[in-house]
Amino acid sequence: MALDRSNPVPNDLSAFWMPFTANRQFKKAPRMLVSADRMHYRTADGREVLDGVAGLWCCNAGHNRPKIVEAIRQQAGELDYAPAFQMGHPKAFELANRLRDMAPQPMEHVFFTNSGSEAVETALKIAIAYQRAIGQATRTRLIGRERGYHGVNFGGISVGGIVNNRKFFGTLLNGVDHLPHTHQPALNAFSRGEPEHGANLADELERIVALHGPETVAAVIVEPVAGSTGVLIPPKGYLKRLRELTRKHGILLIFDEVITGFGRLGAPFAADYFDVMPDMITCAKGLTNGVIPMGAVLATKEIHDAFMQGPEHVIELFHGYTYSGNPIASAAGLATLETYREEGLFERAAEIAPYWEDAVHSLKGLPHVIDIRNLGLIAGVELEPIAGEPTRRAFSAFLDAYEHNVMIRTTGDIIAMSPPLIIEKSHIDTLIGTVADVLKRLQ
Ligand SMILES: Cc1ncc(COP(=O)(O)O)c(C=O)c1O
Repeated sequence: MALDRSNPVPNDLSAFWMPFTANRQFKKAPRMLVSADRMHYRTADGREVLDGVAGLWCCNAGHNRPKIVEAIRQQAGELDYAPAFQMGHPKAFELANRLRDMAPQPMEHVFFTNSGSEAVETALKIAIAYQRAIGQATRTRLIGRERGYHGVNFGGISVGGIVNNRKFFGTLLNGVDHLPHTHQPALNAFSRGEPEHGANLADELERIVALHGPETVAAVIVEPVAGSTGVLIPPKGYLKRLRELTRKHGILLIFDEVITGFGRLGAPFAADYFDVMPDMITCAKGLTNGVIPMGAVLATKEIHDAFMQGPEHVIELFHGYTYSGNPIASAAGLATLETYREEGLFERAAEIAPYWEDAVHSLKGLPHVIDIRNLGLIAGVELEPIAGEPTRRAFSAFLDAYEHNVMIRTTGDIIAMSPPLIIEKSHIDTLIGTVADVLKRLQ
């Protein structure tokens, strides 16, 4: 169906099979965004909607940022595409250098992908191949965590722990086990920042390793803060303990920082924030401010160098994507990192985080609220599910908030919020004030 330029919404929505969407519900009452600037979206029906989720946890610098827009325009006219295999172009190298310089110190090498899911697959493959390269070929098992989200490809859903993302898709990868999740509302409900209880849950790794034998385990992958499952903040000391145990058993530790990377916690990466150094970091989203698809795996020199053996004309890692380090994505990444730096956005996130924390915890006591969690510029508000109708209450909250010009996100019966790092106090007041009104209206 042709697009009517006077009304930019096509009148046939049937062809597009939308991702992670209730397609039939959406197409009956579409929520169509047509433009965006800084903290706001504009809808097809002419409303300004406050972005409480940075798009999808990715537009950390807000929308329509001039430097990024200009970089993409220029790059498209200069070098639109360059082959990614056996050829290079300057901006991919420049971006890798910039990432190395801002990443925690042991991360010296960067492998580009096009999404968080691909970054995860890449890191898992590197982990297994690395163990083989150092003479530990029996180490092929991967350990994830219940309620973990690592994207939607087979490796990611295998180490992930969100039931609906797994159960429809067969037997997944074999040789995978899971740590228990860290959600303990009976002990930690309404914690501000890192909860007190639960560091001991990292010790479950000992049990899993003892069951399989440490010589069979390649890597553990966790999100430092679990986002998509509904914002689970790691208990105090948990990540440090996980680092100690993985090191003790010769197991690589991968932090999936697709959400926590690029300032979300008020530091470049969660590894910096928690002062816990993994062996690899996966990232995406905020790498290009969400504007162009791009992801990356950051790896230590030790991991990278283990592959740099054998005759020099031979490919060292049989892995890569047609668009790895794509010129336009690289240009967008460079402009994004520059915008973060020029505007001091990571520091800004750290500064405004206490105001954010107070604001989100002001929702305590409102109808249906059974827990509130926060860290950096992330918050989760957990609602009591309607009996027999899980997810319905939170989805109603999402729809109501959108009708009242605020975009939040829900997962299960949890409201998740993660605004752009340029958010002002007045926006926080509007966002949380609207959510409060929504909660008061909710059935
Ligand atoms: C921790 C984590 N890993 C991986 C992904 C997948 O990223 P993508 O949707 O870009 O494939 C996400 C997306 O939300 C994520 O939060």
